[in-house]
Amino acid sequence: MKYFIETYGCQMNVHDTERMAGLLEQSGYDPAESDRDADIVIVNTCSVRERAEEKLYTRLGEIKEMSREIGRTPLVVVAGCVAQQEGDRLIKRSKGVVDLVVGTQQVKMLPMLVKETAASRSELFMIDGRPWRPEGRIAIENPYEDPSFPLGIVRRGDPVRAYVTIIEGCNDFCSFCVVPYTRGHERMRSKAEILAEVREAADSGRREVQLLGQIVNHYQAPDDPSCDFPALLEAVHEVPGIDRIRFASPHPRHTSDRVIAAVRDLPKVCKHLHLPVQSGSSRVLAMMRRRHTRGEYLDLVARIRAAIPNLQLSTDIIVGFPGETEADFDETLSLTDGVGYHSIYSFKYSERPNTLASKRMPDDVTDEEKTRRIVALQTLQRSVQSNLFQRSIGTTHQVLVDATSRRHEWELTGRTSGNTVVNFPGPPEWLGKMVDVTIERTGPNSVWGQAVGDPR
Ligand code: SAH
Ligand code: SF4
Ligand code: F3S
Repeated sequence: MKYFIETYGCQMNVHDTERMAGLLEQSGYDPAESDRDADIVIVNTCSVRERAEEKLYTRLGEIKEMSREIGRTPLVVVAGCVAQQEGDRLIKRSKGVVDLVVGTQQVKMLPMLVKETAASRSELFMIDGRPWRPEGRIAIENPYEDPSFPLGIVRRGDPVRAYVTIIEGCNDFCSFCVVPYTRGHERMRSKAEILAEVREAADSGRREVQLLGQIVNHYQAPDDPSCDFPALLEAVHEVPGIDRIRFASPHPRHTSDRVIAAVRDLPKVCKHLHLPVQSGSSRVLAMMRRRHTRGEYLDLVARIRAAIPNLQLSTDIIVGFPGETEADFDETLSLTDGVGYHSIYSFKYSERPNTLASKRMPDDVTDEEKTRRIVALQTLQRSVQSNLFQRSIGTTHQVLVDATSRRHEWELTGRTSGNTVVNFPGPPEWLGKMVDVTIERTGPNSVWGQAVGDPR
């Protein structure tokens, strides 16, 4: 029996896919080349914006069509954030295409649920700790969820970088955000388990570890009162074999001077912070319930820059939040210009189910205006980035090679500590090696260079 998983959304979802793959392989399934060869097709979904959610329905239509063509119907599973959000409604809406819906907190139960679904020849869904038993469907008792995940099961998709979840869920309820509803309340994994997984990742040859959490720097170990996020960074830093430590995403509010000092003082911690700002206007930030003002954010950026001058920043920005005026948007532009991000992820506001904004704030910025604003923001960012990239020409950086490709000659891709993507010619054996690269020219979103010296 073979499985195929396709993944939308954030690193958390990518990592859940690695977990599901591992669980299925432990239960005797093999990976399939494509959905056409698979006995089980899993769509691991994202619900953060409406567009992301729509992708699921497009894919379900395609899977139905494919089943007709190949004359065989795989077991179709929907997992991830849309599964959690829609639950049973998905089964109805898909008109017989979806067999099993698995919520975000039931990943560990996947093999058992697959078995049950196949055995019962009935649709099944499992989305939370309070199973609901409508006529003709089966729900399975679920004990109170626990964010621990057994060691030795994850099937890592990246040869170089290991994702390690440290916190699941979020309690912040930013007014635009669906994540607290799809991922549940915040749950901290034990320090012991995190360190064991980091050691396991190092033993499997991964040189970089990326710690994951919706507010990753809110970490507090349930099994060690003295271990907060900076202390966890120190503990991970001790693990032999790991050369780079990244984390996503820190919240500005929890980026204390101790966090900054840890990033500065621990050489393996990459000199990059993805620090989502969402808006440059304090008025909009208050409506978003972000709990930081423009002034506080800029002050934080100034403290980070003073402590770690070579650190690179990136961010997330939403344009067209309800009530965002032209003047508010101008503040987002001026903040973006002033901070000098190496990269930004920008989004048009999208109304999401259950959120405070969807209940209280009419989505009153027209789509046309949102488009105009996002284009203006991206145009500005291109020039900010291109200036920063230009200044890096002639400098040499340690690049951890994470991908190889072949066009005319072998081309390698990797990242600097600051998270700039660097392309350069080199042999495929350098995958996973640290190489010094001198930057020679710049492109959109990445730079090109030449290796100097021997890889390590
Ligand atoms: N936990 C992270 C964000 C996770 S969601 C944090 O707090 O920073 C990733 C990004 O998607 C957010 O930073 C935000 O910029 C964007 N996003 C979330 N909800 C959105 C919505 N309703 N419309 C548009 N963009 C949204
Ligand atoms: Fe969403 Fe806010 Fe939680 Fe991030 S901190 S996941 S934006 S609610
Ligand atoms: Fe999407 Fe869920 Fe991540 S909504 S961004 S996959 S937490």
